[in-house]
Amino acid sequence: MQQARLFLDSADIDKLKIAVETGIVHGIATNPNKIAQTGQSYTLVISTIRKFFDGPISVQAMGRNADELVRHALELHRMDKNLAIKIPCCIEGIRAIKELVPQGVKTNCTLMFSPTQGFAAGLAGSPYVSPFVGRSESAGYDGIKLIRKIRQIYDAFNISTCIIAASIRNAMQVTESIIAGAHAVAVTWPIFEEMINHPLTAHGYEGFESVFRGIPED
Ligand code: E4P
Repeated sequence: MQQARLFLDSADIDKLKIAVETGIVHGIATNPNKIAQTGQSYTLVISTIRKFFDGPISVQAMGRNADELVRHALELHRMDKNLAIKIPCCIEGIRAIKELVPQGVKTNCTLMFSPTQGFAAGLAGSPYVSPFVGRSESAGYDGIKLIRKIRQIYDAFNISTCIIAASIRNAMQVTESIIAGAHAVAVTWPIFEEMINHPLTAHGYEGFESVFRGIPED
């Protein structure tokens, strides 16, 4: 039985710090889009996050073929052994994962849109996979069914790969992904807030506060 995990899908240092301080963040997911938004280098973003977070950080390896992906992945791995190196799910990516896993690299097979891609990444022994729920839904596919089918395949063959539901667009997709069998969800800061804060909670607490002020002290 794997433990439920929550990944913060962001490279925004201020937001990451707040989320990590809650104590419920097990991992951080970045991608080139998110790192580019910071205006800083890969190395600087990773080393800054590492100052306040010691769990897995997902970082995308870049390359047009398996050799290039392996080269970049090893470069990142040498920098920090607890990176989960994202490798795109394609033939060259699967070849790269097969080479990287025996060398102790924690791969995260990403940009995953079909159950057979999940099966291939599981066969290759990737410790993590990231099926993209939101982008699947935008393209007219059922992103939740994608998660459910990958989980069924892994359970059928005792594949221990951790399914991280990624590209999540709202709190409802978080719930549905977990129920469908995701071991983890990667959420952006606004969704992290949406998951935990609720207008009725805030409103209810304001009511308690005003009543509390009227209660006589000892
Ligand atoms: C997580 O692994 C990815 O960084 C992320 O979920 C991508 O999602 P997007 O569709 O919002 O770019």
